[in-house]
Amino acid sequence: MTSPNTVSATPRFAIAILAAGKGTRLKSKAPKVLHQIGGLPLVAHVIRAASAVVAASDIYCIVGHQAEQVRQAVSGYGVGFVEQPEQLGTGHAILQCRQALAAYDEVLVLSGDVPLIRPETIARLRDFQRARRAAMTILTAAPPDPFGYGRIVRGSAASDSDEVEAIVEQKSLAPAQAEIGEINSGIYAFQVDTLYRYIDRLGTDNPHHEFYLTDLAGILRRAGETVLALKAADSSEVLGVNTRAELAALDAILRVRKTAQLMAGGVTIFQPESCVIDPDVEIGPDTVIGPFVQLLGSTTIGGDCRIDSFSVLTNMRLGDGVTVRHGCILEDSVVERAAMLGPYCHIRPASHIGEGAHVGNFVETKKTTLGRGSKANHLTYLGDAEIGEDVNVGAGTITCNYDGVNKHKTVIGDGAFIGSDTTLVAPVYVAEGAYVGAASCITEDVPADALAVARGPQVNKAGWARKRREKLKREAEKRS
Ligand code: UD1
Ligand code: CA
Repeated sequence: MTSPNTVSATPRFAIAILAAGKGTRLKSKAPKVLHQIGGLPLVAHVIRAASAVVAASDIYCIVGHQAEQVRQAVSGYGVGFVEQPEQLGTGHAILQCRQALAAYDEVLVLSGDVPLIRPETIARLRDFQRARRAAMTILTAAPPDPFGYGRIVRGSAASDSDEVEAIVEQKSLAPAQAEIGEINSGIYAFQVDTLYRYIDRLGTDNPHHEFYLTDLAGILRRAGETVLALKAADSSEVLGVNTRAELAALDAILRVRKTAQLMAGGVTIFQPESCVIDPDVEIGPDTVIGPFVQLLGSTTIGGDCRIDSFSVLTNMRLGDGVTVRHGCILEDSVVERAAMLGPYCHIRPASHIGEGAHVGNFVETKKTTLGRGSKANHLTYLGDAEIGEDVNVGAGTITCNYDGVNKHKTVIGDGAFIGSDTTLVAPVYVAEGAYVGAASCITEDVPADALAVARGPQVNKAGWARKRREKLKREAEKRS
């Protein structure tokens, strides 16, 4: 039980995420924070990091430009939203949160376009701000190129002082200040009551005529409040995205982090810089990934697998020892252990490839189960099909699953043999152990262990070809 007078009660802590801006410098019709790196919108990375520190119900995403689109894109995370109908600057954005934050003691402000921030750094900033009882703490860094960022004007030259005098935006830098290498990350911690006591003092006397949140550093300082800087351990963590080039650079950083993590876990990746692997992908040890492979979404791959170049796997689940040869496109499906795929196969959603099954070149599956040990090795389409174990599907087999209006199912029993160039007009059932002669058009069910042949009988006309040759020769002689 905590008594109402307990001074040591944990402060109520919220996180606000700035995500209302347009992102003019991207020259895009989509809002900046929905541009993706590592397969996720920028703002989703920020929300995920924030969610590792506080409950989603204590996170407020400030939306404005194309607000509805942004809301929808991140609705699954369960965070709250605050509207900034007109985007009059970062200070104006935080002003909109006054009501939402009334119930909190502290707020940490994150930028929707600073996506590589780590949960540990958020927690460190919160704890530092709390311990030092500062009105505002700014997360800072010294990246190799500070151009474009707001710079930190320190209060004292003393090296052990972390007091800040002001933040000066790039466009307003005095010549001497252009030398400052310490930048504002756009990430801050505030005492909520102090923040809103002074926020009305923000003005728009700057090149963009916007309310800059950064001006609060100087305002609080002049009012005698404590404003501190906390340096990020890793400056790459606070890099922002304002341009397409920065978007690509940050995506590359995420990809390098991911491949390094996988390799440390026992996965071989050749030419890792050529591979595109999303953050949530999991891979077991001794799996070998060739160059130019893309592993996307929630893909999980077992151990001892091999994924060759130019294969793209999206939301796939692969068991141990699976081989995916070159150029396969696989999505939203399951492949059981020791199966062999490709080269050049297309596994479309809701396929289930059984243990040890083979899916060869130019074979497409969709909503299809291929049982254990079954083979479809060449030039085949299997849609809406349920295929048992140890079935041989000959080259060029097609399930005709669509009648122009509805989809129908093809069922093939264990041990059946489907000859090459068979068309299976669904709905149709080929029972266990049946044998379908090549080039058959199967429109009716085939009983177990039966032979089905459904093609025109062959006719041989003796001497026909020779007679034709002779006739053509006579005609040619007549003409000359
Ligand atoms: C901002 C900081 C700068 C810092 C940099 C770090 C200001 C004035 N400057 O500059 O000191 O070095 O971030 O990356 O804050 N936004 C809103 N509503 C608005 C305007 C912006 O929600 O009215 C959001 C944007 O969507 C973005 C974030 O705030 O996510 C930052 O805005 P942006 O315009 O990118 O600021 P910078 O110029 O990068
Ligand atoms: Ca920015």
